[in-house]
Formats: sequence, C-alpha cells, structure tokens
Amino acid sequence: MNSFSNQIKQKPWLGWLLFLATLVVVFIIGLLASSIMERRSEAAYAFTPQVQYDQFEPRNDIWGKNFPMEFQSYKKTSDTLFRSKYNGSAMIDMLEVDPRLVVLWAGYGFSKDYYQGRGHSYAVEDIRNTLRTGAPMEGGKSPMPNTCWSCKSPDVPRLMNEMGAAEFYRGTWETRGTEIVNSIGCGDCHDAATMELQISRPALKEAFERIGKNNTNASHQEMRSLVCAQCHVEYYFSKSVVEDVPYLTFPWDNGFSVEAMEDYYDDIAFADWTHKLSRAPMLKAQHPDYEIYMTGVHASRGVSCADCHMPFMSEGGQKYTDHHIQSPLNNVANSCQVCHREETDQLIKDVYERQDRIIENRDKLEELLVRCHVEAKLAWDLGAAEGQMTAILQDIRHAQWRWDYAASSHGGSFHSPVEISRVIGTGINIAQEGRIKLSRLLYSLGHTGEVPYPNISSKAEAQAFIGMDAATLKAEKEQFLQTVIPDWDRQAAEREADYPVKSLFD
Ligand code: HEC
Ligand code: HEC
Ligand code: HEC
Ligand code: HEC
Repeated sequence: MNSFSNQIKQKPWLGWLLFLATLVVVFIIGLLASSIMERRSEAAYAFTPQVQYDQFEPRNDIWGKNFPMEFQSYKKTSDTLFRSKYNGSAMIDMLEVDPRLVVLWAGYGFSKDYYQGRGHSYAVEDIRNTLRTGAPMEGGKSPMPNTCWSCKSPDVPRLMNEMGAAEFYRGTWETRGTEIVNSIGCGDCHDAATMELQISRPALKEAFERIGKNNTNASHQEMRSLVCAQCHVEYYFSKSVVEDVPYLTFPWDNGFSVEAMEDYYDDIAFADWTHKLSRAPMLKAQHPDYEIYMTGVHASRGVSCADCHMPFMSEGGQKYTDHHIQSPLNNVANSCQVCHREETDQLIKDVYERQDRIIENRDKLEELLVRCHVEAKLAWDLGAAEGQMTAILQDIRHAQWRWDYAASSHGGSFHSPVEISRVIGTGINIAQEGRIKLSRLLYSLGHTGEVPYPNISSKAEAQAFIGMDAATLKAEKEQFLQTVIPDWDRQAAEREADYPVKSLFD
C-alpha cells in the first residue's frame, strides 16, 4: 500500500498544495470569526437611546423608541390568529365550549363570562370588557376591587410608587379607571436605567419574605421565570393585612402544592364565595402557572418560562429576545428545537398527547362536580340540617379546588403532566366520597332514585338553569363601554401629556 508520506516523497508539490490549502482555510475561518465578533458587538452597541424617561413611564411606545426590536415583537401580542388544539391567542368563549363551568361557578363572577386569555397587549381592554367588572355608571360601583388591576398594567407600579400598595388596592375597580390605561409592558419587568429584569409587584416579594426567601438573591435564569410569577400565580384578596383593604396575597406559606395551598385556605377558613346551589364555601383557583411549572421536569432542569415563551430571535444579524409572548407551539423552531432534535410535528404531538389524556379525566371530574352541586341542592330542599351537610360541603370545596387548580392553568397539562394527573385523580376520589355521603343523606331524607343531570348543553341553558339574567348584564356593559370608557381614555391622555420624556436629539 502506498502511504501518504510515500506519495509526498514521490510528488513534493502535493505537500506544498496541502500547506497552501490549509493556509486558505485558516484565513477564511479567521475572517468568519472576526465577522461574528463584529456582529456580536454590533448587537451589543446597536442601542442608541433616543429618549430619556423614568422608571414609572407606563407607555410602552416611549420605551419602544429606544428598543425598537423588542417593541415591534411586543406589539405582535395583539395578533389573535393563532389557535392550537386547546390554547392560542384567539378569544374563545369558554362557557360556550364547556357549559358545565357555569354550574361549577354558580353565584360567582366567572359564571357571567369567561374567555380564554390572549396576548398581553389586551390586558386593559379585556378587564374593561368582562361582565365580571360590571357596569359602574353614574356613581355606581363595580363588584370588583382595585386589586383586580394589579396584573394588568405598568400604571400599577406607577400608582403604588405614589400612594403605596395598600392604598392602591383600596376601593372599587372603577375608582382607578382613569389611571390604568396602558397594557402590561416594559416597566412591569425592566429597570429603566439598566434594563435588568426586576420585580415590580410587592405581592411576590412579600410571599417570598414570608417563607424566608429573598428574591434579590435570585439568579439571572430564575429571574427569567420570576418576572412571570408576578402575575401567573395563585392568589387571593386577604382581609387581614390592612383593615378594609382586599390585599393581594399569594397563599404560599405552606408550599406550592394543591394540598399545601388548600391547608392554608382551610386554616384561615377563607372562601371566595358561597356556591349558589350547594352552598359550599368555595375556592376559586386563579392561574397557578408558576407553581405548577415548578413541579415539572423543565423547571427541574433549569429551563425558564422565557426559554420557551420568549426565545432568542435573529434578524439582520441582530439577536434579540422575542417579546411576542404566546403559545410556543406557534414557534417551535425557536422555542423547543434549541434543545430538542425532534421534528416540529413530533413535538406538537407530545404536547397534545399530554393535554388529551389529562382533559379526558378532567371532564369526568367536572361532571361529578355538577352532580355534587345538584344533589346537595336537593338535600337542602328536602330539609337537610347544617350539621348533616358540613362534611359533604367540605368534600365539594376540596374536589372543585383540585379541578380548578388543574383547569385554570392553561399550560399546566404540558408544564407538569404527571402532577396535574395526580391532582385530578385526587379530585375525582374526593368528589366520589362526597357523592357517597350525599346518596346516604338523600336516602335518609326519603329520596331514593337518581337525581337527574341538568339540561346544560349550551351556555344559555346553563345560565338559565342557575337563574342568571345574562342579557341585562350585557346591555348594561354595552352602555358602560360607550359612555364611560371614552371619558377615562380622554382624562388619561391629558394627564400623560405632561409626563417627563426628553428627546436626546433636540
Ligand atoms: C413579561 C416581562 C417582560 C416585559 C413586559 C418586557 N420584557 Fe424585555 N425582556 C424580558 C426578558 C425575560 C428578557 C431577557 C432578559 C435576559 O435574559 O437577560 C428581556 C430582554 C429585553 C432586552 C434586552 C435585549 C434582548 O432583546 O434580549 C430589552 C432591550 C428589552 N427586553 C426591552 C423591552 C421593552 C422595550 C419592553 C416593552 C415594550 C419589554 N422589554 C417588555 C421580559 C420582559
Ligand atoms: C403584569 C402581569 C403579567 C406579567 C408580568 C406576565 N403576564 Fe402573561 N398574562 C397576563 C395577563 C393579564 C394575561 C391575559 C391577557 C388577556 O387575555 O387580556 C396574560 C397572558 C399570557 C399568555 C397568553 C397569551 C396568548 O396569546 O394566549 C401567555 C403565554 C403569557 N401570558 C405568558 C407570560 C410569560 C411567559 C411571562 C413572563 C415572561 C408573563 N406572561 C408575564 C399577565 C402577566
Ligand atoms: C432550554 C432547553 C429546553 C427547551 C427550550 C425545551 N426543552 Fe423540553 N426538555 C428539556 C430537558 C432538559 C428535558 C428533560 C429531559 C431529560 O433530562 O432527559 C426536557 C423534556 C421534555 C419532554 C419530556 C418530559 C415530559 O414532560 O414528559 C418533552 C415532551 C419536552 N421536553 C418537550 C418540549 C417542548 C414541546 C418544548 C417547546 C415548547 C421544549 N420541550 C422546550 C429541555 C428543553
Ligand atoms: C418547556 C417549555 C415551557 C416552559 C418552560 C414554560 N412553558 Fe408555558 N407553555 C408551553 C407549552 C408547550 C404550552 C401549551 C401551548 C398550547 O397548548 O398551545 C404552554 C402554555 C402556557 C400558557 C397558556 C398559553 C395560551 O395560549 O393560552 C401560559 C399562560 C403559560 N404557558 C405560561 C408559562 C409560564 C408563566 C411559565 C413559567 C412559570 C411557563 N409557561 C413555562 C411551554 C412552556
């Protein structure tokens, strides 16, 4: 066999050729590396501030003048076209999709209307539109407190800075209508001077302080989830922090699990409302996205919310963080394939499979809960005594809390499928135990047959079944939107015209 060194001995020019070729390759690699470095430093120094403003500047377009890439991508949160199998950015009427919800929330605002969440730029519009905030006109009051504004706008930290958190929460929702007009944005997550991530909401800091954690020690990667945990969490309005103030509080003192938060609420005998049919003291889970995510495999591998919901993008050689926060299934290439080598179809299938399997059991739990409420109402109607109902109502409270904890976090079935399956499993078990007690009680009260399942195949039928007059609520809301809202916006624009924004190029 003619070895390579032999060949070179026979034809010396081959050696020189090899040497020259190596030189050329090294030169090209060098060029490439220097061009990459240049691009990197371009990306870092592309920032030329156009305007100067302070931390409490609530208008996203003002910050956007300095950071056009981030602002342009933020604006895409107003896109409502993308729909995945169960989520996405469209405004889906969840009570129409699943009329059982109307019965589960009977006597509570969510039975009036409940839409699937959409992009951040709609936060203010949607809280104005929902029937849950009512139609406070001509001195009338909203059924909701100002605390409801807490996760909607960078006007919130601005006002808290002026008056303190407790004073901000005080009073009914319409009293801050002229002040809170800018949807979720830059000031909610960023320090204006350094653009570092920061926590702007006291409720998160206070919750960590109570469990002896200090969020200022959080790592950069943890902050990429904690900025979301300011809002995407379970919370309630505590009446024991400051008198007469519904104080925004996260129930984390015993931990994040469904049982730990249930114990917390049971210990202080807290109820969000009394169920209209069963009279059970109910808990409404909000959206424990952060808590559920923390129990999943991605969190335990250090993957943050921003890794999937705010991936890095590259445009014209500039790298930036995508501020179009949305379902990652609309951008699997940047969201998942940074870490996973599977095809897009396979990754989407993985998500849907987890969701399908969980929703199968979640629907069963919903049906059981509807039956619980209807059967409990019959027991009251037949003359059941308070003492006979206590244990049953506690079962209904606990079973529905588990259902809501699993259902109200729209990403939970993917963020932590095993934990969510477990939560629904325990919910089914508790609901069945409640129904066994109910059937014994109903028997002792003289009722032997099955209690018929209500006819609730549409939202309208379900609302009629619980005795709600949705048409009047809607008409009042329409009038509120036409008369009060333009006035709020006009007053806000006048106030904002005086804000200190300085152009750096005059
Ligand atoms: C919900 C929280 C949140 C909001 C709201 C938000 N950002 Fe960001 N922003 C982030 C996160 C997370 C990063 C990534 C930071 C990191 O890893 O260092 C980021 C990064 C940035 C950066 C650093 C450069 C880059 O692209 O990575 C800039 C500049 C920025 N954001 C501007 C803005 C502007 C302007 C707005 C308002 C239009 C805004 N952000 C709103 C969370 C937010
Ligand atoms: C200041 C409170 C707040 C912060 C901070 C916040 N969110 Fe949201 N988020 C909301 C609200 C409110 C909505 C629902 C808006 C609506 O439907 O009008 C929402 C909606 C969403 C949606 C649904 C979007 C769609 O198109 O369906 C996603 C996904 C989301 N947020 C993820 C995040 C992530 C990830 C972070 C952190 C990087 C974050 N959010 C930070 C309040 C917040
Ligand atoms: C920053 C890296 C990273 C990103 C981004 C990421 N993953 Fe993962 N993913 C992981 C790691 C690490 C694991 C754990 C696997 C292991 O350790 O073997 C994992 C596990 C999984 C699993 C199996 C765990 C389970 O729940 O059963 C699925 C499915 C998955 N990822 C899908 C996705 C999808 C879909 C996306 C995009 C929306 C995504 N991942 C984004 C790193 C990532
Ligand atoms: C590993 C990737 C990954 C991580 C990490 C992650 N998510 Fe998600 N998230 C998803 C996927 C996938 C979905 C399901 C989207 C769908 O069904 O269209 C989802 C759904 C959601 C939704 C509902 C979206 C919608 O369209 O209505 C919200 C809100 C959400 N996540 C918030 C968060 C928050 C807050 C965190 C951190 C505490 C987080 N996510 C962490 C991948 C992730």
